[in-house]
Amino acid sequence: MTDNSNPSGSPSIPRARAYWYIVCESKALGTKPLSVTLWSQELVLFRGKEGKPSALLNRCAHRNVPLSDGRCDEGIIQCPYHGWKFNGQGHCVEVPAQPGCETGQSHAVPAHSVRESQGYVWVYGAPNQLPHGDPYLFPHLDDRSYIHVRYQADFDANIHATAENILDVPHTAFLHKGLFRGGEPNRIRTEVTHFSDRVECQFLDEPRPSGVLGKILAPGGGDGMYHCDRFILPSVAQVEYRLGDRGHLMTTSSLTPLSDWKTRMYAIVSIRKSFWLQLLRPVITPVAMKVVRQDQEMLIRQTSAVREAGEHYAYTNADTLGPGIIKLLRKAARESVSIQPINEEDPLQTVKGELWV
Ligand code: FES
Repeated sequence: MTDNSNPSGSPSIPRARAYWYIVCESKALGTKPLSVTLWSQELVLFRGKEGKPSALLNRCAHRNVPLSDGRCDEGIIQCPYHGWKFNGQGHCVEVPAQPGCETGQSHAVPAHSVRESQGYVWVYGAPNQLPHGDPYLFPHLDDRSYIHVRYQADFDANIHATAENILDVPHTAFLHKGLFRGGEPNRIRTEVTHFSDRVECQFLDEPRPSGVLGKILAPGGGDGMYHCDRFILPSVAQVEYRLGDRGHLMTTSSLTPLSDWKTRMYAIVSIRKSFWLQLLRPVITPVAMKVVRQDQEMLIRQTSAVREAGEHYAYTNADTLGPGIIKLLRKAARESVSIQPINEEDPLQTVKGELWV
């Protein structure tokens, strides 16, 4: 299958703005204003009464100075240049050189809705809009029978290439040989199911993974593996393995577009506890980061080729999720409000195939 939707070859970046994105970990936002980036725009975060965060465009309405250079007090941020003050909705509430003057929309700074959830600060991508839907909830975080390992990494790639890489099975036998796969190839049946807000692929008849992943998932061995990868709008890439009664590993990555060509991944690996897992726990982060480094380097090369020579994609059925991801992202970018899940029992389409890894 070839993607001819962009015959010019010039890169197309769908920007799904009416969605929630993580902009930092909660612990990174203290009492001082913090500058963060989303879709190439600098925003300033600051906390108000009871710690509630606000997000404004990081540019004073007066003369464009970054507000993050200023100070905040009880939810009011003050520009360091002439001291204008703005509340969490971006309204100018004080002009020190003109006390009592009337201020209106032209004196305001664009504001973004903010939520704090599960240790992350989320910002709604579209400014001055009431949010539609809620930030994604990472599964199992409150379940004490799991351990959770958090990590983050930046990729020099757009959000589609990054999500496709995270959910791409065939490359693991080459790029990550020895860590995931890479032995004699096995025939695996696939079922790709499309929903309104996500696409997922279930891998059937897959043997227990070789390498470190297999040992982390089920140190004592086991059969009957369940493996499902899914992409959920706007930017969640999730890999799930179940093995036997208790083996369960879920890696959930929420991707933030810092710019068209730079994507930050906030990932949580959740694994059901076992005796053996305690022994292997120290190697989880080093292994995950080794995989990430290999992917980072490959995506740098892919991005540089696309930016220099344009894009062209030739897919086969082994590229189970990439085409579905770009379709969803393009659809989301066309809508002014976020696409919400509809009947989960009623998928739009299921496509069966196979691959060898
Ligand atoms: Fe901000 Fe003047 S530039 S108060």
